[in-house]
Amino acid sequence: MKQFSITVPIQELDYAELSDQDKHLVDVAKEMTSSSYAPFSRFHVGAAILLDNGEIVRGSNQENAAFPSSLCAERTACYQASALFPGVPMKKIAIAAAAEHSSDKSQSPGLTFQPLPISPCGACRQALLEYEHLYGPIEVILYGHSKTYILPSVSSLLPLAFTDF
Ligand code: THU
Repeated sequence: MKQFSITVPIQELDYAELSDQDKHLVDVAKEMTSSSYAPFSRFHVGAAILLDNGEIVRGSNQENAAFPSSLCAERTACYQASALFPGVPMKKIAIAAAAEHSSDKSQSPGLTFQPLPISPCGACRQALLEYEHLYGPIEVILYGHSKTYILPSVSSLLPLAFTDF
């Protein structure tokens, strides 16, 4: 029998320690939380993808009364990126999330950013991995109000992934 481990390199940083490029991408992801349509979960997620041509493509979660028809911010962003700029590699994705802090539904809610980074769901990891296999590593920046994680690739978030048949 052989045993092996898979380790995931994660950089933990404060927002202030990010490069200017990463700060900007995180800022766009944070901004995008306010375009989220999340009347059911009241959890607002924003994503921003930096492309090799310098474009930043944005996404936010879009919910639906038929719950499974909803789409996460990360897939909204990567499908939009591939649709708008087919063949252009995706270099980095930043993700931010905010919860509503008012329970009064008659008022438009304020948003509070999550203190800890949130990480993409399994389906989003799989979707992002498809583009990573086409174009090479996509760095993943997971923003949290108190700390931010940077991972070198989507595959580091999804080891032993299904990629081919
Ligand atoms: N959501 C995302 O958009 N991205 C994630 O990484 C996790 C979850 C959305 C889906 C749903 O609209 C809400 O957040 C609560 O799960």
